[in-house]
Amino acid sequence: MSEKEHNVSRRQFLTYTLTGVGGFMAAGMLMPMVRMAVDPVLEVGAEGDMVAVADLDELTEEPQSFPLNFEQDDGWYEAEIEETAWIYLDGDDVVALSPECTHLGCTVNWEANEDEPERFFCPCHFGLFERDGTNVPNTPPTEPLHRYEHEVRDGTVYLGRPQPQV
Ligand code: FES
Repeated sequence: MSEKEHNVSRRQFLTYTLTGVGGFMAAGMLMPMVRMAVDPVLEVGAEGDMVAVADLDELTEEPQSFPLNFEQDDGWYEAEIEETAWIYLDGDDVVALSPECTHLGCTVNWEANEDEPERFFCPCHFGLFERDGTNVPNTPPTEPLHRYEHEVRDGTVYLGRPQPQV
């Protein structure tokens, strides 16, 4: 091999150096952007958190509306969300229903229509739900009210997020 083959020309040296430095700087700029884009996906959110809503002693067999506040991570900002839940006792079981109508999202109320006692009523399009949240046939909603995940600890009822009834 000749000595010339081992030599790096000034042009090649500059090309290698600028490529290396440029790549390093580009990685330094891109890493925060990638992290910002991916971070909310990787973070453990509040979805699994349970919120104390009521004392077990307060519950009756009649559905009652209880306020429910929780923090929600929505992308890059946190929001304080206020909801309500219809909660009642079914024997020893606690039932917690979302008040959000499964037709178009209006708020349902218990026994709000005097012609439909013992049912949840949605005033927007006259939707009806049975006590357990089942949608009444031939009314606009096509699925039951969602049920909150719940647990009872030390006499306190905790709710998670509402889930569709299957
Ligand atoms: S939104 Fe409730 S019936 Fe339409």
